Amino acid sequence: MNLIKKLGIIAIGAMLMAGCTPKSATTQSGTESLTTESSKTESVTADTNKDMKKIGVIQLVEHKSLDIIYNSFKDELKNLGYVDGENVKITFQNAQGDMSNITSIVQGFEGDKQDVVVGIATPVAQGAMSLTKTTPVVFSAVTDPIGAGVLTDMNAPDKGMTGTSDAVQIDKIMDLALEITPNVKKVGFIYNPGEDNSVTNLGLLEKYVKEKNLELETVSISTSADLQTAAASLFEKVDMIFVSNDNTVAEAMPILTSEAIKAKKPVYVGADSMVMDGGLATVGIDYTDLGKETAKMVDEILKGKPVNEIPVKVFKDDLFIYVNTDTAKALGIEIPDSIKNDKKFVEIKSNK
Ligand code: TRP
Repeated sequence: MNLIKKLGIIAIGAMLMAGCTPKSATTQSGTESLTTESSKTESVTADTNKDMKKIGVIQLVEHKSLDIIYNSFKDELKNLGYVDGENVKITFQNAQGDMSNITSIVQGFEGDKQDVVVGIATPVAQGAMSLTKTTPVVFSAVTDPIGAGVLTDMNAPDKGMTGTSDAVQIDKIMDLALEITPNVKKVGFIYNPGEDNSVTNLGLLEKYVKEKNLELETVSISTSADLQTAAASLFEKVDMIFVSNDNTVAEAMPILTSEAIKAKKPVYVGADSMVMDGGLATVGIDYTDLGKETAKMVDEILKGKPVNEIPVKVFKDDLFIYVNTDTAKALGIEIPDSIKNDKKFVEIKSNK
């Protein structure tokens, strides 16, 4: 937490400096420093090269899935011919999970005018709404863009931003949970109510449990530091925990895994990355595809296509069954052959 605070302050400091000296607005993120052209002198920066397109990227926080998305986004941009520092300048900013950081990063991008801004995860898309007056915005992995209020028409985005969406397959994940652990009667759900993506998923889960006559107990957290206590007390009351693709939970997923193993009860999750971090299983998309598609949308915008002519792409069709077999073993749970033999089955090991 201390570290997060400190990095937040550094980020704000960097923005202030950027405001003072827009020509040399080199920014730094928590994860990587930006490559500037070290062989060239200050006066020949990206900003003075008129052909150099500027792409600003804001990632909500560092967790496995958002990192996967950003990396595949960057790789795909390269495939499309955008070479950072040559014909494009990519400025990456990590908001360290803090809304006030999002605001200051957005202001920085407003000042140092970008050709397109990419917002990874729901709170970033929401925080970037004010940018759309001046800059096209492409969001990435926003679970429910309408619920989040960033547009009202998925086919003709009407608020200056379009992008990719990762709709969570609540019914399919819960069906899988009941297939693996059929004796489940009481389901626990942990989420951050400040994340509209999780609010949408809770609504879907409530509908599911009602239909199946299951009981539901929910616990809300506001930071990932609350996860351990929340999980430990919830496991005393429920047969399993379900977490959807909540960024606050994902950030501390390994902690939830160790609580599950202590309690000897399963955690079913809303993303492949959370299975990699020890969750028992999910049914979901491959997020590298989503990262690539985000890059294709950025390419279209840089080539002049208006945002409202680029429909939102919802990733919901090409689904895989991810199961962590190390976690299954630690919990003493047998994965049915019907699942293991499914051609969409992907075995995940904890230590990879
Ligand atoms: N869909 C999330 C959002 O709307 C972001 C996200 C993508 C995510 N992959 C994830 C969250 C994996 C948790 C785990 O903000």
